[in-house]
Amino acid sequence: MQYTQLGKTDLMVSRICFGCWQLSPRFWGDVPLDQWRAALRKAIDLGVNFIDTADAYGEGYAESSLGEFLAAEKCRDRFLIATKFYWNFEQAERVPDTTYEYILRACEASLRRLKIETIDLYQIHAWDPITRPEEVAAAFGQLKKQGKVRWFGVSNLNAEQMRLYLRYTDIECLQPLYNLIDRGVEANELPFCLAQRIGVITYSSLARGLLSGRYKPGHHFGDHRDQDPRFQGEALERLQAAVHRMQPIADAYGLTLPQLAIRWVLTHPAVTSAIVGIKTPEQIETIAPAADGVLSSRDWHTLAALIAAAK
Ligand SMILES: NC(=O)c1ccc[n+]([C@@H]2O[C@H](COP(=O)([O-])OP(=O)(O)OC[C@H]3O[C@@H](n4cnc5c(N)ncnc54)[C@H](OP(=O)(O)O)[C@@H]3O)[C@@H](O)[C@H]2O)c1
Repeated sequence: MQYTQLGKTDLMVSRICFGCWQLSPRFWGDVPLDQWRAALRKAIDLGVNFIDTADAYGEGYAESSLGEFLAAEKCRDRFLIATKFYWNFEQAERVPDTTYEYILRACEASLRRLKIETIDLYQIHAWDPITRPEEVAAAFGQLKKQGKVRWFGVSNLNAEQMRLYLRYTDIECLQPLYNLIDRGVEANELPFCLAQRIGVITYSSLARGLLSGRYKPGHHFGDHRDQDPRFQGEALERLQAAVHRMQPIADAYGLTLPQLAIRWVLTHPAVTSAIVGIKTPEQIETIAPAADGVLSSRDWHTLAALIAAAK
């Protein structure tokens, strides 16, 4: 496993990050916890030292499950833990909340569920149009002073929104949607992060599995993807055909199609780590080799053009 510095922090993170959104039953159905825990054990064996979760994943369920694992297996020191706040789910109807008081409360609740003393990377999950950045920054300052958080990051923010935060606080990391299909952040956000030395950890790096090339029309997912038009009919067929046209390049590197898709993300110079949503030990084991190198510039562009043509 290769490691790299996250932005300007002192964190050396594995280039594959273990994503925990899959423990959100509303979106992903029931993932058996025993196989999920086995995946975490496998991650340790493979040298994956970076986990991404959020308080909102299963309304605390993903964090609690992780906290129980870390405590039971006494392995907190093996991982750098990134989590997020934004959704206030203290009442039945969840709403965005990035007020000073709420951020402090959300952090306490995450620490309690995770059974840890300090969060390594605490991220705002999305942009909140009605809370001033000064207020979020003040909460960050307080949490850092109290030793509850080491570094701060943002997710789903554009370059302008990051620029605004940077007037009041350090931001060490951006977590954007980025993969061979969804390349919206290439124009502004990735260059901005490179220029500012802000780390980038990409989410949906496999486009929720689409780039693995494993699905055929009529595939029953048993989760939110059954309602997503990209996973149905002609759209799915066209994309899967394009993904399979990547096979010769995959073969040239000795990679599988999902590994190639992750290596494509990791080849971008702004990208620190690719987050991959993991349910089973086989998934983390078979994706890990993607981190062992980069693609040539020619192959990177060829793959990008291949997938763009299928859209
Ligand atoms: N900040 C945000 O707003 C945000 C949003 C979304 C996600 N995230 C984070 O990013 C993580 C990853 O994103 P994601 O879950 O949307 O999508 P993803 O990583 O692109 O896709 C996850 C899916 O890929 C498939 N997969 C995983 N490993 C595989 C392997 N080795 N070979 C073949 N297929 C494999 C699995 O599909 P099957 O289920 O079909 O097996 C899995 O459910 C999340 O867990 C979360 O931590 C953050």
